[in-house]
Parts: sequence; C-alpha cells; structure tokens
Amino acid sequence: MVDGKRILLVVSGGIAAYKTPELVRRLKEKGARVRCVLTAGGAEFVTPLALAAVSEDKVYDALFSLTDESEMGHIRLSREADVVLVAPATANILAKMAAGLADDLATTALLATDKPILAAPAMNVRMWEHPATQRNLKTLAERGVGFIGPEQGDMACGEWGMGRMSEPDAIVAAVDEFFRQGGAARPLTAASGRSLPLSGTKALVTSGPTLEAIDPVRYIANRSSGKQGHAIAQALTRLGSQTTLVSGPTQQPDPPGVRVVRVESARDMLKACAQALPVDVAVCAAAVADWRAETVAGEKIKKGAAAKPPQLKLVENPDVLATLSASGNLRPRLVIGFAAETENVIEAAKAKRKAKGCDWMVANDVSPATGILAGDFNTVHLISADGVEDWPRLAKTAVAERLAARVAQALKAS
Ligand code: CTP
Repeated sequence: MVDGKRILLVVSGGIAAYKTPELVRRLKEKGARVRCVLTAGGAEFVTPLALAAVSEDKVYDALFSLTDESEMGHIRLSREADVVLVAPATANILAKMAAGLADDLATTALLATDKPILAAPAMNVRMWEHPATQRNLKTLAERGVGFIGPEQGDMACGEWGMGRMSEPDAIVAAVDEFFRQGGAARPLTAASGRSLPLSGTKALVTSGPTLEAIDPVRYIANRSSGKQGHAIAQALTRLGSQTTLVSGPTQQPDPPGVRVVRVESARDMLKACAQALPVDVAVCAAAVADWRAETVAGEKIKKGAAAKPPQLKLVENPDVLATLSASGNLRPRLVIGFAAETENVIEAAKAKRKAKGCDWMVANDVSPATGILAGDFNTVHLISADGVEDWPRLAKTAVAERLAARVAQALKAS
C-alpha cells in the first residue's frame, strides 16, 4: 500500500507532464510522501511552483545547484525514497536510462538509485514503436524497471495509437499494487539469473478477441481490448515463468520477454494453444467468439445479389478453456478462466467453472456501465473450489500482478 511510502517522482519533458500535479495530489491523498525532480524539458510543460505547491516540498530541478547539493545531494535524493516513479517517461529519458547516461539531476538520480524504478511511458506512437525504444524498454524491463502503461488513444500531436500516458488514477493504483506485492524490483529472469517465484515454470495465456470471417472483408468480433490478458502474460513473466501469449488481433504492444503467437480465429487459437503444451499454468483471458459462420464466402457478398439480406448460419466454435481443462496428461496443473457476465455474475461464473472443468474462474461484470471491456480497471471475484474471493476495484495491471502472485503460491503448494 502506498500509505506512508516515499515516492521520488521524476517528471520528464512530455505534454503529459501537465497531469503530474494531479498525480501528486492523488498519491498524497492516499498517504504517500512525494518529492519531485523536474527535468528542463518537464519544466516546459509544468511549473516547479505547481509541483512544489501540491507536493508541499521543494522541487529539485538542477544538477549543479550548490544549495541543493549541500542540503540534499543527488545520491541521497535518489535513496531517500521507497520507489522512483518516472512519469511521464519520454522516449528520451528511457533511452538515457537504458544507456546509463547521467547528464542532469533526473538521470543522475536514476543512475545513482538503489531503489526500484517504475516508469509511465508517454510518447508519440512512432517513437513508441521504434525498434530503438522497444529495445530500451526490453533492456530496462530485464533490469527490473516496472512499466505502467502506456495506453492507446488520441495524441497531442494529432496521431492515434499507443503512447498516451496512463491516467493518474491508473498510475496510483499500479503504484499501490506494487507496494502491496512487497515493493521490490523484479528483473526479468533472462538478465537477472535470480530465482523468482515462478522460475522453471511455463505459462500459457490467451488474450484479445477472435475474428471469425464471413467473407474476405467482413467478420464477427467483439470489444475485447486484450489489456487484461497481455498484463497477465507480463506479470507471469516478471515472476519468472516462460510465457507464451496466444493473442487475437489487438492494439496492445508485445509484453517484453513474452513469446507472442498471433492468431485470428478461435480454431487458430486452439491450435496455437495445443502447440504450446505442456505448461504448468494456463490462463484463458481471451474473449473467444462463441460462433462462426458455417461457410465463409470466397468472394465479397454483394448487397444487391439477393432480394433479402443474407441469413448467416452460425456454428459453435471449439472452447479453448474447456479443451485445455480436459487435455488428459497434458492438462496444465492450474487452469484459469475468465467469466465475462452482465448479470448474476458470481452464480453464472461458478456454473461456468464447473461446466468448463477449470480450477479457478475470475469473474467480472462486463455490462457497458462498468466500462471494463475497453477500460483500465477491473473489479473481479476469484472463484475456486474453496469459495469466492472479492477483490477491490484494481487497475488491470494490478489484477494481473495479484493473479500471478496467487498462481506462484498455488504452483508451489501443488
Ligand atoms: N472460452 C474459450 N473458448 C470459447 C469460449 C470461451 O476458451 N470458445 C473461455 C474464455 O477465454 C473465458 C471462459 O471461456 O476464459 C469464459 O468465457 P465467456 O465468454 O465468459 O463464456 P462463454 O463460454 O462464451 O459463455 P457465455 O457466452 O454463454 O457467457
């Protein structure tokens, strides 16, 4: 929990810096003590005065200020915190962090710190997708830097895509969950070589919607964003599991360190999952289309070809979760499903757990009013043979972290 924690907030130079006074306010409301370091770029978007007012502390913005150095050296500044949070984290500051540059107070503190670092990236979509940025993200993740977001959406530059900084309440929720989980950096196994709670295990995660073709241009789909499934794959990997993510079409970036298999239809998803076996744990978070068109037209169906609109004959798709749950000696030790419901959430999910033969069912209410399908938050209930556990409203990344921690406990016990 963030209550009583000391957070060093590094604000770098992106337009999203204007949201940082709100971020500081929300963190302080939850009981955190926040001290801010502002880069020269950051100061173009938010004033030191605004951050000083909301943090009720001095804002540190120059490396070679003698007063700051005598009152509070950059080493002390970076170590007198429980976590260093970089928000917004621009492509530039992430590149400097990956390269180990220290040419201002912010990057010097980031290089000197012995505390865990969390970063909320914010940048233009092309900058986000650039191989240089992706390489830097991977390097930083391997060293244990935790990422919050980014999200997709409209950008200040007029483009649309991945790269918007997560909203302050999502960042606060992720920081809160980080402390709930012990508040330690968790490097990806690849670079650390340390033993992690899921080291030596294999995981399979499904995510996103499936698309079922009607003709070469039309398809049946659903509103799943893939956010929850991708976050789970990331969280399991961070705990040391060798993870395969089988994903339908989504806008989500590939989580670093995860093997991603992209598929379109339910049948392709099932095939890819079967090929990923054996695994220790399978988490089916995909919103698999229940039905597909019985026949897929070879050519585009023309509007004027028939007197009446065409009738689609649907047939049922294979059930990936039920198939994995019944895969004999290839059955994962732990099989987890998600139940998307709009009414009688818990009762329906309990029945679904039995019907599909999985061990745990994570139930969530996906009624439009909850905003869960495309949103960043989720309120879930974990249903197992032992009963029902109600979890509070959490960021999807936080749900993923908690679930991964529970998976680690369960696999250890089994
Ligand atoms: N699932 C699956 N394959 C399918 C349908 C669903 O693997 N063909 C999985 C989902 O990934 C999820 C769980 O089954 O883990 C429940 O999905 P949900 O959509 O809630 O249930 P359905 O089985 O589709 O039932 P209904 O639509 O009637 O609620």
